[in-house]
Amino acid sequence: MPLRLGNIGNPETLYGTPRTDRHIVWRLIELERRINMVKHKGTEMLETERLILRRLTIDDADDMFNNWANDPEVTKYLTWLPHGKVDITRNLLESWIKEYGDLENYNWTIVLKNIGKPIGSISVVEVSNIRERAEIGYCMGKKYWNQGIMTESLKAVVNYLITEIGFKRIQATHHVDNPASGKVMLKTGMKYEGRLRKYIKNNQGRFVDCNMYSILDEDINLNE
Ligand SMILES: CC(C)(COP(=O)(O)OP(=O)(O)OC[C@H]1O[C@@H](n2cnc3c(N)ncnc32)[C@H](O)[C@@H]1OP(=O)(O)O)[C@@H](O)C(=O)NCCC(=O)NCCS
Repeated sequence: MPLRLGNIGNPETLYGTPRTDRHIVWRLIELERRINMVKHKGTEMLETERLILRRLTIDDADDMFNNWANDPEVTKYLTWLPHGKVDITRNLLESWIKEYGDLENYNWTIVLKNIGKPIGSISVVEVSNIRERAEIGYCMGKKYWNQGIMTESLKAVVNYLITEIGFKRIQATHHVDNPASGKVMLKTGMKYEGRLRKYIKNNQGRFVDCNMYSILDEDINLNE
């Protein structure tokens, strides 16, 4: 969580406060500014050559269910099970849509421009404000695999999170038996860092090892 001073940061609340206390409060506000270098903006629309990355809406329920959320091949290495019923997808979307009110929420659907339909999703699954880093997760319908689409999406998201939001480090992990995902990370410019033992609990309730990759703000600048 970022350091937040809440109402105390509002100058209006400072009137009537003894002068010395006011001084301390302003020093704290300055400290807050220096500490929180990440400036959250939430899920803004991103565009690439073939894709639009945008917020999900309730109208995406059928495409999400049919294209990726109900396919056991898609969820094979993930933490969640195929939805089974479109109502589950709809309920999940309702809660995701509420979460867009929080500017620390980053959750896009991937729309392939030439068909105009959502085919997958990419999101920030963990944020550390204090360490100025974020972890990304993604998935996509099988019909669209091996066309470079997730690499194109991940590049756009990494670029946004580093250059627009100010994260210093973006990381991603994949189940060790899912090398295609590691390939996406490498093609995005991430570096392999090692194997994390029992890093996630899979959708069978078993803890499994994952490979960790990351890209730093300085890697992006170097690539420019
Ligand atoms: C993993 C996933 C996101 C990849 O998306 P994608 O759009 O197909 O990825 P890209 O086409 O950008 O790149 C995939 C690369 O992996 C390679 N690949 C595919 N299957 C592979 C395998 N079994 N072993 C090694 N490499 C493999 C492809 O050849 C391609 O590399 P190339 O461009 O050098 O040929 C997609 O398969 C998916 O959504 N899977 C289900 C959900 C999932 O596993 N999410 C990731 C959780 S960490």
